Amino acid sequence: MRLIIGITGASGVIMGYEMLKKLREYPDVETHLIMSDGAVRTLPFETNLTVKDVEAMADVVHDSHNMAASVSSGSYRTDGMIIIPCSMKTVAGIASGYADNLILRAADVCLKEGRKVVIVPREMPMSRIHLRNIKEAADYGCTVVSPVLTFYNGADSLQKQIGHIIGKILMQFRIDDKAFVAWKGVSD
Ligand SMILES: Cc1cc2nc3c(=O)[nH]c(=O)nc-3n(C[C@H](O)[C@H](O)[C@H](O)COP(=O)(O)O)c2cc1C
Repeated sequence: MRLIIGITGASGVIMGYEMLKKLREYPDVETHLIMSDGAVRTLPFETNLTVKDVEAMADVVHDSHNMAASVSSGSYRTDGMIIIPCSMKTVAGIASGYADNLILRAADVCLKEGRKVVIVPREMPMSRIHLRNIKEAADYGCTVVSPVLTFYNGADSLQKQIGHIIGKILMQFRIDDKAFVAWKGVSD
């Protein structure tokens, strides 16, 4: 499996890093990382990680300005894309088809080729513009996995909450993460 991981400048860039780290547990998954300029800017505000630390978790790294990268073409086969976290600017770009960086181009390509695009949009509160763009992105084929808190699974730390979000995203690609605590159901 080949997955494109886009990290944008919304709060929660650590989720993108944790996603790459998790995917290293799956040798059959080849990750292609694209970090936007926004992500590079946000990273030091929120973490002690360097860009090199994040890049080290990926199999292939693409410059977000390289519009000639492999993943900018539909003829380069991938199994889809995860944009985590996804800024409101990037949601707007996806919804309008305004592909002015490699993350937006790769998402545009995945959608035109009928490949899965999971976006993890983060803003709080969301304006009607944000909500409209997220709905439009969903209408055009994106799967929206919001990075919301979960309370039913004993996720009592930030690390576990992030792990739960990552598990939910991976389910979209039929990857069952061993660490994911799924709802087991209750008998009547
Ligand atoms: C510390 C920090 C936190 C931010 N958090 C958010 C956020 O949660 N959601 C959002 O849409 N933008 C957020 N932004 C603004 C984006 O980084 C900015 O709009 C950027 O241009 C997005 O571009 P990109 O999608 O190409 O990364 C944040 C910026 C900084 C510096």
